[in-house]
Amino acid sequence: MDNANQKKENVLAGKHIVLGITGGIAAYKSVYLLRLLVRAGAEVQPVATPSALEFITPVTLSALSRKPVVSEFFTANTGEWHSHVQLGMWADAMVIAPATACTLAKMATGVADNMLVTTYLSMRAPVFVAPAMDFDMMAHATTARNLATLRGDGVTVIEPASGELASGLSGRGRMAEPEDIVAALERHFGACDSLAGKTVLITAGPTYERIDPVRFIGNFSTGKMGYALAEEAAARGARVVLVSGPVALTPVHPSIERISVESAGQMLEACRKNAAEADIAIFAAAVADYAPAHMAEHKIKREHAGIDSIELVKNPDISATIAAGRRPGQYMVGFALETDSAEANAREKLTRKGLDMIVVNSLADKGAGFGTDTNKISIITAGKPSDVRTFGLKEKSAVAADILDAITTEYQ
Ligand code: C5P
Repeated sequence: MDNANQKKENVLAGKHIVLGITGGIAAYKSVYLLRLLVRAGAEVQPVATPSALEFITPVTLSALSRKPVVSEFFTANTGEWHSHVQLGMWADAMVIAPATACTLAKMATGVADNMLVTTYLSMRAPVFVAPAMDFDMMAHATTARNLATLRGDGVTVIEPASGELASGLSGRGRMAEPEDIVAALERHFGACDSLAGKTVLITAGPTYERIDPVRFIGNFSTGKMGYALAEEAAARGARVVLVSGPVALTPVHPSIERISVESAGQMLEACRKNAAEADIAIFAAAVADYAPAHMAEHKIKREHAGIDSIELVKNPDISATIAAGRRPGQYMVGFALETDSAEANAREKLTRKGLDMIVVNSLADKGAGFGTDTNKISIITAGKPSDVRTFGLKEKSAVAADILDAITTEYQ
């Protein structure tokens, strides 16, 4: 066995995993997923919905897991009660694969009418779902809403792939391959404590620079990338100080302390206060470049002079200011959102701002940048500025994992 495989086995070895299986065609892949998990050394307890057992037999699942499959609240002939509470405490992770639209809806609303959803509601460990359904069901607003609710509740969604579906249609809805689900779990367990004891300072969102009481200069940043970084860093054991401009998001992980600010001046102030404690600082905010030199006390009337030209002053560069005042051992990361000559511009920013790493995203890439749920990045470090690591288009949560993997490797 080579070293890479050995390392993989160790991460899942001895871990207690509840494998939830629901009634979809992709349930046949759960058998292989179970096999992979057991082979990696995990102890797996299958919990199947009654309709899952229309697709695969309990004998297969119990033979592979060496545990009786839990499906009903009671064993009919003995009256033995199956404790979902015990399972919730036993598990190190719960993974539901496949997760049908029906089960996702029940999870999102707490309809605990079967053993699987009841176990989910009792679960103390992190929960992963691998949705699998037909293209139209996947694209339906209801499914999107339920997935958004579950994400908000801290559930990790292992994204479905696009491709051929059981219906004969082709599109997004194929369950992630068992190998990818195992990889997501390995990443989770491997990364679990990698930032334990560290403090990470993150800026996120736009800044609003007031012109008068009703108008501001701002930008289209939604804060999604910065918040994804905050959740990922917290999941890896860090204490996170999230200095956030005005956004519609709420942090989920209890280790995230959010400081809400509005303007660049306030963002700088909050960063200054918290920078000394930080081991790592990630500047993901889209800071407005300029602010009005004076804020009008009253709403400027359109018919009066005063709104047709506004005197502007340059905002402070928060990342450059904090990097200039840093103590040895602190690691500082910036973002560069570029429309052209992305790498060259990013390299110049890395040096000018005195950062250790810069994450480049190009607005030229479809699905990257402001407001999207996905991003496509490259990473350049000050140590090796000629090396550019380029990643594929991914969910912002997966991008956050890539960025933190890169930071952790460099920072050690
Ligand atoms: O110069 P540019 O705005 O492209 O630089 C982007 C990077 O610098 C981001 O990491 C951003 O958060 C940070 N920045 C900052 N303060 C500013 C402008 C940008 O921290 N005033």
